[in-house]
Amino acid sequence: MRPPSGCPEWLTVYTAAERPDLWESVRSSGLFYDVWPEYNMHGTHTSAYFGVLFPRFPDFQTLFVDERISRVVARGRTIPFSWDGTLGDLPDGIDSVGLRAVQSDSKPNALSALAAEVDRPMQGLGLSSVVVATMGQLAASNGLQALVAPVRPSIKDRYPLIPIERYAEWRREDGTPFDPWMRVHARLGAGILRAEPRSMEIVAPVEEWERWTGMALPEDGQYVFPGGLAPLVVAGGRGEYFEPNVWMLHKG
Ligand SMILES: CC(C)(COP(=O)(O)OP(=O)(O)OC[C@H]1O[C@@H](n2cnc3c(N)ncnc32)[C@H](O)[C@@H]1OP(=O)(O)O)[C@@H](O)C(=O)NCCC(=O)NCCS
Repeated sequence: MRPPSGCPEWLTVYTAAERPDLWESVRSSGLFYDVWPEYNMHGTHTSAYFGVLFPRFPDFQTLFVDERISRVVARGRTIPFSWDGTLGDLPDGIDSVGLRAVQSDSKPNALSALAAEVDRPMQGLGLSSVVVATMGQLAASNGLQALVAPVRPSIKDRYPLIPIERYAEWRREDGTPFDPWMRVHARLGAGILRAEPRSMEIVAPVEEWERWTGMALPEDGQYVFPGGLAPLVVAGGRGEYFEPNVWMLHKG
């Protein structure tokens, strides 16, 4: 596909529809697995929507190839859904938008970001804004009126006890969002719609949580854990965690 403005000339963008072979080889190699904390790969509902993006929505999945080294260095995943544009009709977070997208029969008129991933050696070079700009271009070129993103604030794990509603409002002295990943969206013109304290549900037996976090969880209670954006609640042999997100709207 045509790259968005600001894309370096050494970066080529392909949709999964254009390069199904490449999409499949990235998936089977687990290229981006290590950019996520382990617990994050075990959402209760995520396979129902992440699991069907390809082959169901191939035009909305993108890969970014660094032509200097002939390697995929970033990936963007999105899902089209129907939304009347009001806060009342905005899904309660990433699980909710993903499930609506795969279950609803209504014609999609909006696009939701689901995940942007940059390969570790290429992080910190500004590629993420190209990934998000490409999502905006996909929305426009497919006739969808809006791009929204359930943003996973990238340094919220340093402040797991702060409610997401407060964290979303934090600003730097220059007025831009405190969180770097929210800042990327804001610089591309996005504004905050709503904080979502229960965007993605991860519920599992406590033994699984001990394995994912590398921590003993010996009794019922609330735990702060490495990489967690909010506390984990352990009760009756189960660990329950809700990942908070912040909905941001990119004006079309
Ligand atoms: C979040 C992610 C996509 C950012 O990609 P990136 O190309 O490395 O980010 P950029 O180089 O464009 O930097 C974006 C901002 O984050 C900041 N940043 C980058 N790495 C950071 C880090 N480890 N800690 C704090 N800030 C960081 C940059 O300084 C920049 O902010 P600024 O320019 O306003 O100061 C990438 O880190 C990633 O793949 N993370 C894992 C998956 C994920 O969390 N995706 C987002 C949720 S879907």
